[in-house]
Amino acid sequence: MARLDPHSYCDDAQPQTDTVDWVARVDFASKTLTAVATLTFARSGSGPLDLDTRGLTIDRAETLDGRVVPFVVHTEDAVLGARLTLTLPEGTAGVRVAYRTSPEASALQWLEAAQTHGGVHPFLFSQCQAIHARSVLPLQDTPRVRVRYTAALTVPAQLKALMAAAFVSREVDGDLAVERWQMPQSIPPYLFAFAVGDLAGRELGPRCRVWAEPGVIDRAAFEFAGADAMLTTAEALFGPYPWDRFDFLTMPPSFPYGGMENPRLTFLTPTLLAGDRSLVNVLAHELAHSWTGNLVTNANAEHFWLNEGFTVYAERRIQEVLEGAERGALSEALGRESLDEAIKGFKARPALTHLRTDLTGIDPDDAYSQVPYEKGYLFLKTLERYVGRPAFDVYLRRYIETFAFRSITTDDFVRFTRAALPGALEAIDAPAWIEGPGVPSNAASGGSARLDALRALGTTPPADAVAGAWSPAEWQLWLQQCARTPDDVDCAALDARFDLSVSGNFEVLVAWLELGVLAGYVPAVPRACQLLSQVGRMKYLRPLYKALMVRPETRAVARSTFEACAPAYHPIARQVVRGLLSAP
Ligand code: BES
Ligand code: ZN
Repeated sequence: MARLDPHSYCDDAQPQTDTVDWVARVDFASKTLTAVATLTFARSGSGPLDLDTRGLTIDRAETLDGRVVPFVVHTEDAVLGARLTLTLPEGTAGVRVAYRTSPEASALQWLEAAQTHGGVHPFLFSQCQAIHARSVLPLQDTPRVRVRYTAALTVPAQLKALMAAAFVSREVDGDLAVERWQMPQSIPPYLFAFAVGDLAGRELGPRCRVWAEPGVIDRAAFEFAGADAMLTTAEALFGPYPWDRFDFLTMPPSFPYGGMENPRLTFLTPTLLAGDRSLVNVLAHELAHSWTGNLVTNANAEHFWLNEGFTVYAERRIQEVLEGAERGALSEALGRESLDEAIKGFKARPALTHLRTDLTGIDPDDAYSQVPYEKGYLFLKTLERYVGRPAFDVYLRRYIETFAFRSITTDDFVRFTRAALPGALEAIDAPAWIEGPGVPSNAASGGSARLDALRALGTTPPADAVAGAWSPAEWQLWLQQCARTPDDVDCAALDARFDLSVSGNFEVLVAWLELGVLAGYVPAVPRACQLLSQVGRMKYLRPLYKALMVRPETRAVARSTFEACAPAYHPIARQVVRGLLSAP
C-alpha cells in the first residue's frame, strides 16, 4: 500500500478509477446535489477501496452488477475530509455510489438571485482545485488518477447548465431540464467543473464562445474578442490545442479567483471587464494551462509550481507576441513585486518558498501564494537565458509532448530536463531553486526603459502629459512603489488629479486603495469597504483587508466589513480572510 499524495486517501495498490458517470439533481432550495457517481475501474478488483469525500452523506453503494458494497465513512480530517472505505466483492469492475452533498460543500457556491447581475435567478458554481472535488463527488481526488467522465445534470428549466466538457444534449421536461455532457479526454479531478444560472453565449470565433449572464454578455464579448487570435498564437508556441473548444464563462463577482482553467470552459472573474482589454493576460494564462497544467499536470499540490510556473512563463510568451516586449517587462516586474511580498509573508515558514514543497498536514489553500507562480517563472526564465530561447522552445515542446495527459512530479521534470538540456540544471544551480528558500541570486531579470523611468520617479507623481499616456500596468507599478513608503505620499492631491478612486481597472483601483488605506487617507476606507462588499476575488480581498488591519483605527472597520460580507464570499475566500483578520 502506498499513499503518494499527502492530500488524498487514494491508495496505489487498490483499483484505479478510469471513468466516472455522474448523475445529479441540483436543488437550489436545499442547496444540495442529490447524485449517483458510478466509478469504473481500469481493472477489476476486490477488497478495500478508499475514496475521498468531504461533507457527503452516502446513501448506498453497489457494484455495477447490483451487488451490495459495504462501506464505512471515517471521521472527517480537517484537511483531507472523510475517507470512505468500500469493501469490494470479488471481481468488481466498478461501483455506483448514491449520495447527497452538504449545503456547505467547500467546492460549491450557491448564490441568491440578489448576488447575480440580473438579480432574478439563483446561480451555482463549482471550484474544485486543489482538493474540493471530494465535496461534490466521492472519488480518488488526486491528480495522479486521471479520469474521463459523462454527466447528466437536472436543473430548473429556466436555467442553463454548463460543464467543463463537451455538450451532448438538453431535454426539457416540465419545470426541469436534463443537460448531458461528456469529457472524452482524461483529466485530473480538480478540473471537474460546472455552473448553473441564467446564461447567454456569444460566438467569438470557430473554437471560442464566451458565456455570461445576459446583462454582462456584451461587455464580456467586447473584452475577450481577441480570444481566437490568442488561441492561434498559443498553438504556434506550444503545439496543437488538445481540447477541441476554448470557451469561457464570466462568473458572478464572488468568484474567488481571477480565472480557473477548467478544460473547454475557463471560468473568469468579472473584474477583468475593464472595458479596454487591459486585463486579458488572465485569459492568456488560463488558455496556457491547456498545455501546462491540464495536459501536463502536477502529480499533487507539492508540485504546484509545475502547473503555475510553466503557465506564467507561457502566459508571458503569449503576451509578448500579442502586446510586445515592453508590456512583458512590466508584467515581469509586477510579478517580481508580488513574489518579494509573498516571500516576506512566509518569513516564519521559509519552507513554503521552495518550489517543491512538503505539504503533509497543510491545506493547499493555506499554502497558496505567488511563489510557485513567480519563482517558478523566474526559474524557467533563468533556464531559458542559460540555454538560449531557440533551444528552450524545442525543449518546452518536447516536455509537453512527452508528458501529455500525464501527472508528473518535480523529479520527473528534473530527469527529463537533465536528458534534454545536459548540464543546464547544474549550471543554474537548480537545487537552490527547487529545494531552497527565497530567490537565488542568479535569477534572470528583464527590465525595460519604461520600467527604469518609473523606478526613477520614486513617489513623485508623473507629469500630466506622462500620466495621460500611462498604461494600467504602469499605474499599478508606480502605486505599489508608493505603498512602500505611504507616509511620503499626498493621497488627496493624487486622487484629485488622477481620479484614481473611479478607475475601471481593478488592478489599479486596488493598488490605489491599498496605498490610500496604508497612508491613512480617510476617503479610501469607505471606497475599499465598498469594493470588498462587491467582489470576492481573493487577490483583492487579501491586500485590502491586510491594509485595513495595519492601522489601529481601521481594524474595527475591517472586522465589521467582513462580518457583513462573509455570507456573500465563497467558502474558500471566507476561510482566507478569517485567517488574515485573526493573525496577530
Ligand atoms: N489554477 C489557478 C487558480 C487556482 C489555483 C485555483 C489554486 C485554486 C487553487 C489559475 O490558473 C490562476 O492561476 N489564476 C490566477 C490568474 C493569474 C495568475 C493570471 C488568479 O486567479 O489570479
Ligand atoms: Zn494558473
